[in-house]
Formats: sequence, C-alpha cells, structure tokens
Amino acid sequence: MSTDLRRQMPALANKTYFNYGGQGPLPNASLAAIQAAWTTIQELGPFTSEVWPFVARTTDHLRQRLAGWFGVPPGRVAFSENVTAGCLLPLWGLPWQAGDQLLISDAEHPGVVAGCRELARREQLELAVLPVLQLRGTAEAAATGTLAALEAALTPRTRLVVLSHLLWNTGQLMPIAAVAERLQAHPRQPWLLVDAAQSLGAIPVAEAAAAADIYACTGHKWCCGPEGLGAFALSERLLAESRPTPDRLAQPQQRNGRRQRLPSRCPPLRGGHLLSALVRRSGQLPAIAGGRRRCPGPSRAHS
Ligand SMILES: Cc1ncc(COP(=O)(O)O)c(C=O)c1O
Repeated sequence: MSTDLRRQMPALANKTYFNYGGQGPLPNASLAAIQAAWTTIQELGPFTSEVWPFVARTTDHLRQRLAGWFGVPPGRVAFSENVTAGCLLPLWGLPWQAGDQLLISDAEHPGVVAGCRELARREQLELAVLPVLQLRGTAEAAATGTLAALEAALTPRTRLVVLSHLLWNTGQLMPIAAVAERLQAHPRQPWLLVDAAQSLGAIPVAEAAAAADIYACTGHKWCCGPEGLGAFALSERLLAESRPTPDRLAQPQQRNGRRQRLPSRCPPLRGGHLLSALVRRSGQLPAIAGGRRRCPGPSRAHS
C-alpha cells in the first residue's frame, strides 16, 4: 500500500479538500475492500450458512480495532448507521421517570437535539441547556468554563448530560473525563452521552470513550471511512440498566453471553471502514489536512 495517502484518494486528485468534518474522502483501498466483500458475499451466497463466518470475521475484526481505540472491551462496542443513531438509539432503552431532566449543551448537532426533544415529549422529561458555545481559548480554559457551567446547571433531577467531545461549531475540546467524574458525585449519577462525530480519527479518544456512558462516532468523517457506518461504545452500567430498543443495534451483546444477531445492514462497509482505519493510522492524514485540526464552519452542509 502506498504511503502517499493523497494519491490513494480519488476525491483529492483534482482539488484541495477541506470538509473532513462533513465527510472524509474514501481511499481506493477501502473502495476495493467494499467491492471485494460484496463479491465474496455473492460468491458464498447471501444469507447462506457459508457467508456468516465471513461476515462475523469482518465485523469482529473492526469491532476489536474500534474497542482498542475506545479503550473498552469489544463486547461494549456496537455498530450504527451514523452518529445520530449511535447517540439516540441507546437513549430509547433507558428507564426514564417523568420529570427527569436532560441537560443538553448548546453546541450539540441539530439531529441529536431533535431526537432528545422527541424523547422528552414522549417520556415527559424536562429539557435544560448547558452553555458551552461561548467558551473560547485553551483546552484548560474551556475545561474550567465547562465544569463551571455544569456546576451551575446541574439539578437534583438531572438524569442525562449530552456533550460533544470536540464541538463541531467552535472546535473547542470538552473535558469529558472530568465531566464524567463530576456526574459520578451527583446523587443520581446522570448518564453521559458524548457525540464524538468530530473526534474519532482526529484526536485520541480512549480516555473520553471509556469515561462516557454512550460514546458515538462515525467512520465517514475524520476516519475517511464509508458513509453509512457508525459505531458506539456503551458503559457497563448502561448495558446493565437499559432494555432492548426497537433497533437491536443498541445492544452489542446480551448479558448472558449470547451474542445478539446484527440486523441486516451492510457488512461490506465494515471491511471498507477497516481498511480506512488502517490507512488513517498510517499517520498521513495530517499532511492532507494541512497539519491542523480543522473546525467545520457553521455554514457547512451537515451530513
Ligand atoms: C457533532 C456532530 N454530530 C452529529 C453529526 C451527524 O452525523 P451523522 O450524519 O453521522 O449522524 C454531525 C455531522 O456533521 C456532527 O458534526
């Protein structure tokens, strides 16, 4: 495999590409892996007993690699279609009580906010805002500001805090581990949902992913993976406290050790994303992005 990542990406051949925060370009190796996986599935026979070991191998391989990045056991990693689904699906399985409060940062993505609003309407939950959008300066200054805002916003009814790891609108890094620690000291130990759309592939994620109750990412941004495949890590306590949701993707493994069957999604994408992950780990991406972490501007199109 060539070490020149730029030459591996057809999307970069004739342009200077800056919107990794919206969607990263896909390397040829990933395109080839997706096509090869599709061919293998057709040759073995879709939905035959011969095909499942291949699908399981590909899925397990990617799950293990993601678990390594997240710093959690593979059994706590599940696949989703995208970040929004990874954030919202697990919420539908939690034991809410009317009057519980969802504390949502003012820098969250509209899709996640909309899903939380609908959950609040159905379960008679309260919504409150955690103000972080105005924070500027160093990571230390943002951490101090975030923890102060959290302290002011927490109430005895707070049951969930929603906060992105890297804010899509300002680029500020949020102190996820410190927020998780503060929530553990709260009498109700609110769950912590972290939207990691802009973090996986851009910055180290293990500390935050292991601290969050739900840490939801996608492959198609900074990992330069295929669109249509996200992943999320769940905490032990969330797995213990949640019930199955309408979509079984939110339950990576059953507690009795029996494996949940993955719904019929698109296994070839997992092979493609695995390849992207390997290419991305070759360390070439900063050179493409100009060596700087890019912050997607508010006017860019969301995916
Ligand atoms: C912070 C954040 N969350 C969620 C999303 C939506 O991602 P997806 O389309 O994978 O659900 C985006 C997309 O840009 C984002 O920036």
